[in-house]
Amino acid sequence: MQYQGLVISVPKEIMPGEKRVAATPETVKKLVSQGATLLVEESAGLGSYFSDAEYVEAGATIVGDVEELFSKANIIFKVKEPQFNHQVGKHEVDLMKAEQVLITFLHPAAPANHEMIQNLTAKGVTALTLDGIPRISRAQAMDALTSMSTVAGYKSVLMAANRVPKFLPMIGTAIGMMPPANVTVLGAGVAGLQAIATAKRLGAVVYAADIRPEAAEHAKSLGARIVETGVPAEIAIGEGGYAKALPQEWIVKEQTALYDTIINSDIVIATALVPGRMAPTLITEEMVKAMKPGSAIVDVSIDQGGNCALTVGGELIERHGISIDGTKNIPGMVATSATSMFSKNIVNFVANIVKDGKIIIDTNDEITDSTLVCQNGKLVHAGTREALGLN
Ligand code: NAI
Repeated sequence: MQYQGLVISVPKEIMPGEKRVAATPETVKKLVSQGATLLVEESAGLGSYFSDAEYVEAGATIVGDVEELFSKANIIFKVKEPQFNHQVGKHEVDLMKAEQVLITFLHPAAPANHEMIQNLTAKGVTALTLDGIPRISRAQAMDALTSMSTVAGYKSVLMAANRVPKFLPMIGTAIGMMPPANVTVLGAGVAGLQAIATAKRLGAVVYAADIRPEAAEHAKSLGARIVETGVPAEIAIGEGGYAKALPQEWIVKEQTALYDTIINSDIVIATALVPGRMAPTLITEEMVKAMKPGSAIVDVSIDQGGNCALTVGGELIERHGISIDGTKNIPGMVATSATSMFSKNIVNFVANIVKDGKIIIDTNDEITDSTLVCQNGKLVHAGTREALGLN
């Protein structure tokens, strides 16, 4: 059996407000049926409404002592990068030991995580980061970042819809037709396309802008009206077909092209992002001032700095009568669905590195190579090495 003899531990997430967990009773059952021993921390699933009893029924053992849970693991499944665990007075990195395999979102190149990554490396842990999964077809079912962007795109529209003082759909009433709301989605990647689909389902008139013609085409096929950004494809598209960071003069041209659509929007969902770079500023303070009071912006790209000049990370603020939402952990607000997707992604990912009860870290495999952060005391993740000046 694939996982014979392997212990997989699933701690409770300890980042404040984090409700997701890295395994569900469904994924536990699957792994146990293939020979794994699953240790799940007591009440780990409660935030996503999975009870300890359901994990036990699926074949897991519930462990109350988190130090024991970590120490017995061959593989640790987590959602968020290791944090300081105030309950036991130790950092999660210090609960791990050499040769254990950690699979989670590590965001290793982000400066805030550098110290933690260096400690993890020094421990001799083998760490694999889910944000490194390449967007290739073989890896699609493992792509947790895509899953979380799907959740964020969906929920961002509901968050805005709840705040605006208007109907989203056109509604026929005895006193005549109530007009639909205008929703503009900036960036038509994974999150943006899901936002478009959600806003369409709610009956809004949806506009979308993306500098990649292919993305704009997808948005159009979901029923969005395309706002031309005026940015030529040869400037917009970089290596691997991803968007490139635009020179400032083109950002200004794009802002001008988007101006009228944005100021006439009841809702703007901002998801424009260039991988590994700061998100482009597409909504200026001048535009916010010109929007109708009561309108709402949700700046989904806030982790990369946001698309609106006024967004404050992690906060919902009001400026010039417009609500600007910089909520950081949107997927955590849809915890059960997000957990269900994440846990399936991680099971598909681990299946790629385990064979006949053995963990095989093969860097000739594109997925392993691009997700491996550290192993045997060596920091191997290219982006992190670059960020730390180690190359
Ligand atoms: P993606 O890379 O699939 O899509 C980003 C899109 O933005 C691409 O289609 C790209 O062409 C477009 N873009 C780049 N520059 C542009 C510009 N100047 N003008 C117009 N479009 C431009 O990324 P994905 O997966 O859709 O994620 C979008 C953002 O949402 C990311 O910043 C991601 O980190 C964030 N996110 C935030 C969450 C939260 O809780 N706040 C949760 C999940 C994702």
